[in-house]
Order: sequence, then structure tokens, then C-alpha cells
Amino acid sequence: MFNMASVGIIVTCLLSSLILEAKSQNFVTVECQKSEIVAQYGTSTLLDCVVQNNKGDPTEIELVTWKLNKTKVLSFDNNETEQKPGFQFAIRSPWNPSNMNVSLLITDTNLSHAGDYSCSVLTVSGTGKSNVHLTVKSNYSKPVIDTDPEKITPDKGFTLTCKAHGGFPEGYIRWVVNDAEWKNQPVVEAIKTSNGLYDLTSKLAFGPDSQFTKFVCEVYSANGVKQGTKTFEIPPMDQRTGSNTEGKSNAKIWAPVFVIGSLIVGLLVAVLVMCRRRQQSE
Ligand SMILES: *[C@@H]1O[C@H](CO)[C@@H](O)[C@H](O)[C@H]1NC(C)=O
Ligand SMILES: *[C@@H]1O[C@H](CO)[C@@H](O)[C@H](O)[C@H]1NC(C)=O
Ligand SMILES: *[C@@H]1O[C@H](CO)[C@@H](O)[C@H](O)[C@H]1NC(C)=O
Ligand SMILES: *[C@@H]1O[C@H](CO)[C@@H](O)[C@H](O)[C@H]1NC(C)=O
Ligand SMILES: *[C@@H]1O[C@H](CO)[C@@H](O)[C@H](O)[C@H]1NC(C)=O
Repeated sequence: MFNMASVGIIVTCLLSSLILEAKSQNFVTVECQKSEIVAQYGTSTLLDCVVQNNKGDPTEIELVTWKLNKTKVLSFDNNETEQKPGFQFAIRSPWNPSNMNVSLLITDTNLSHAGDYSCSVLTVSGTGKSNVHLTVKSNYSKPVIDTDPEKITPDKGFTLTCKAHGGFPEGYIRWVVNDAEWKNQPVVEAIKTSNGLYDLTSKLAFGPDSQFTKFVCEVYSANGVKQGTKTFEIPPMDQRTGSNTEGKSNAKIWAPVFVIGSLIVGLLVAVLVMCRRRQQSE
């Protein structure tokens, strides 16, 4: 009994030292260019990794496994490639000592590609593993401003609506009115679309007595970087009062006629007066 136990202990010790030895003799690593990647939505993304044998012996890759959040998305095993849609090896040709590029290529990156990636390899010279964290971002479209009513008149109030779409993560909109930051910034409506991106809408309302003429809508990303602006201008109030354009153009046509007319009348009067004087003096 006692002998059996000691034999067991010795065997366990031997085994663990063997395992330790094997580990210390593992010269293979997976080297990735970046451990943090910020990908742009809708573009292709490369998780750039190569297998390195730090001992310098030729290495043959037997197994490569790429996982996203611990779920296999791409693998090479037994000379067979298995892939989920959207994931592929950047280099398809078989690996050899001069090509150890096991990079993962994501075509048309979307939000479901974000997460924690791991790349594990098994080679004749040992195993290696590396992690890459991927976040996906999307820029908001250039903002547009719509007015309600479409044509702003001085007798009525109006509402400006600024919209920017297709951004991620959730950003926000700020208004600058007559070159000053607007104090009561309206609540921004953020709607998540089916692809996970956000559409932003902000509405700013003004009464009929408003004297403001210049409105700038600024779109910011979640971390406060300005992504786009749109400026909307209306003529100042005093110009808007005579905003009946027909009346204006009529006035333009009639003004010279009136001036010339008065000149002619004045001349006629003068001629008449002179004629009278002459008749009287005769
Ligand atoms: C692996 O596949 C390549 C190309 O399909 C082939 O040339 C090679 O012989 C295969 N190797 C093994 C070990 O099956
Ligand atoms: C992302 O793209 C993959 C294919 O690459 C597709 O299967 C998936 O549905 C897409 N996800 C979203 C949220 O669009
Ligand atoms: C791996 O291959 C990809 C695709 O050809 C290339 O863009 C990348 O630079 C390669 N990586 C290294 C470390 O050579
Ligand atoms: C992976 O995990 C991260 C962090 O837990 C999460 O934000 C992301 O949505 C997950 N991605 C997938 C595809 O499950
Ligand atoms: C996204 O927006 C940032 C900041 O405005 C800019 O630097 C970057 O070039 C934009 N990227 C794309 C793909 O438009």
C-alpha cells in the first residue's frame, strides 16, 4: 500500500516535470501586429498574425483555430479549411516555412464581428496562441437640415430638424445658433436600425418673433469628436418682412418709371409756367 502510494507520487512528479519540460521547449508563438483593432464598418478588416518558431527550425503548421468570443469561426485542420460566412484566411495557399501568415480577414465588417478573438496554432515544434480585441465603428453620414414649414415666413414659428444616420456607437447632436452654443439643447433621438447602427435626429423650434438667422447642426461621435456640421441660414427679419418677392420686383420696375415720370411732369410744369409768364409780359 505504502509502496504503491510512493510509486504514484514519483510517477506524478516525473509526469509533471516532463510536461514542464515540454512547455519550456515550446518555441512557437503567434505574433499579431495589434492586440486592439478598431475596424471601420463596411470595410474589410485584417487581424494580422504570423506564426514564429523562435528556435529557427522549420515549422509545419498542423492546426489553426480562430475563435470569436470562444466560438470557432475559422479553422484549418487535417488539410481542411472550415469557415463561417464572412471569415477567411488572408492567404489561402498552404503554409510552409517561408509562409507562416495565419491572418484572419473579415470582409464587409459589421457589428456582429466585434469581440475577443483568439488564434491558436499547433505545429510539429509546439503550440502558440494570441488574442486580438476588435471593436467596430461607423461614421455618421453628413447631417442634413429640414425646415417646417418648408418656407419660413416672419409671421409664423418654425422648426428645424437635423438628421445624421448610420453611425456607431451612439453619438449626439449639438446646435450652434447665431455663432453661440444653444443653451437648451434639445433631447436627441437615437434610433437603432436593423444593422445595429444609430440614426440621430434633433429638432429645434422657434417662435414667430425669433431674430435668429444662422443655425449650425453639429454631429459628434460617442467620444466627443466632431464628425460633421450643416449650416442653415435665413435672411434677417427686416429683409424677411418685405419677403413678398413679387412686390419687391414690382417696386424695382416701377421705381425708375416713377422718377422719370416725375421729371417729365416737372419739366412740363416748368415749360407751362414759362409760357404763361411770356404771354403775360407781351
Ligand atoms: C493538402 O492539400 C494540398 C492541396 O489541396 C495537397 O497538395 C496536399 O497533398 C495535401 N496534404 C495532405 C497531407 O493531405
Ligand atoms: C454581419 O455579416 C455576417 C456575414 O459576414 C452576417 O452573417 C451577419 O448577419 C451580419 N450581421 C449584421 C448584424 O448585419
Ligand atoms: C499576411 O498576409 C496579408 C495578406 O496578404 C498581408 O496583408 C499581411 O501584411 C501579411 N502579414 C505579414 C506579417 O506578413
Ligand atoms: C463578444 O463579446 C463582447 C464582449 O463581451 C461583446 O461586446 C460582443 O458583442 C460579443 N460578440 C459576439 C459576436 O458575440
Ligand atoms: C471617420 O471620421 C473620422 C473623424 O471625423 C475621420 O478621421 C475618418 O477618416 C472617418 N473615416 C471614414 C472611413 O470616413
